[in-house]
Amino acid sequence: MTQTISINNSQHLQVSPLEIPSRLLLGPGPANAHPAVLQAMNTAPVGHLDPAFLALMDEIQSLLRYTWQTENELTIAVSGTGTAAMEATIANSVEPGDVVLVGVMGYFGNRLVDMAGRYGGDVRTITKPWGQVFSLDELRSALQTHRPAILALVHAETSTGARQPLEGVGELCREFGCLLLIDTVTSLGGVPLFLDEWGVDLAYSCSQKGLCCPPGASPFTMSSRAREKLQKRQGKVPNWYLDMNLLGKYWGSERVYHHTAPINLYYALRESLRLIGEEGIENCWQRHQQNAEYLWERLEDFGLTLHVEKEYRLPTLTTVRIPEGVDGKAVAKQLLLEHNVEVGGGLGELGGKVWRIGLMGFNSRKENVDRLLEVLEQVLPK
Ligand SMILES: Cc1ncc(COP(=O)(O)O)c(C=O)c1O
Repeated sequence: MTQTISINNSQHLQVSPLEIPSRLLLGPGPANAHPAVLQAMNTAPVGHLDPAFLALMDEIQSLLRYTWQTENELTIAVSGTGTAAMEATIANSVEPGDVVLVGVMGYFGNRLVDMAGRYGGDVRTITKPWGQVFSLDELRSALQTHRPAILALVHAETSTGARQPLEGVGELCREFGCLLLIDTVTSLGGVPLFLDEWGVDLAYSCSQKGLCCPPGASPFTMSSRAREKLQKRQGKVPNWYLDMNLLGKYWGSERVYHHTAPINLYYALRESLRLIGEEGIENCWQRHQQNAEYLWERLEDFGLTLHVEKEYRLPTLTTVRIPEGVDGKAVAKQLLLEHNVEVGGGLGELGGKVWRIGLMGFNSRKENVDRLLEVLEQVLPK
């Protein structure tokens, strides 16, 4: 029923109950949340210091360690989206004047550059054309040149669909005495990740992609090496909300009030991580790979070209070149408005050149690939 709300004597607002179309979200994120996750989110909130909630926070920590394959004690969820967790890694590791080397191979590398600069880092960059990745030799020679305190890389560059291999990078960082900071926003839960084996010191992610959860509670982790740097820093972390010295006391045994956690989002995150545990993280990775390979085959059979070389393609996010003469934006709009299927457009340098198709978390299923191809065939000119 529509209601009229009077804002003042001359302004009136017509408001009806919430009505949102049901969409299949096959873009760069958010992906559709798992129904069990939405159900968990619907549980009545308790207090943020309630023993039942504190126990749930402990479970989130353990399940996150499993999902990331790490034993880092300081493994938590930041209240905020992936960007907040990204900022938490930078705020807690970069001290003014620190050389921060960022590997830029897409849009999110540039965001790291901007952020590290704002925290006083002496930021240096190495770059790759969008869609390519860095070799170990290129990283070694950049570390030799710049001698950074921190090397920051994006594992899964959502703007290009490329997966940066990380094997051996942690050893290089140890050789050159620097920390390794990794963006796993589009990889956690969908792409193999072995943080400890790979020697990653700081990592962050989001809830709305591979974890099949709504956005707003974002994984963060920090190794003991990174915590040592934090303990030795000269000044305070210049961001109160994201200071791990304070947040660690809420998530750790002291349980000191820090902020009112978004209780229901943490219910959702806990359920999504439980579902991953139930499926088994290796099975999850395998499912993402199999469905992505099926998508790639179907797209190529349809005559479309994929932007990234197969070896470095992300199973969670595929970039497809928009054929010459096709209005990519118009196609995406038609898919959304006429068929309720969302795909993403290109970002930054790839704007207007590619579509971005996500198969993440709960959405990584064969039937979704079939549905996408069915509607693409109807919308794309032959
Ligand atoms: C690689 C990468 N890093 C960071 C972010 C920022 O995350 P959020 O949009 O959740 O703040 C995104 C978002 O899609 C991303 O894909």
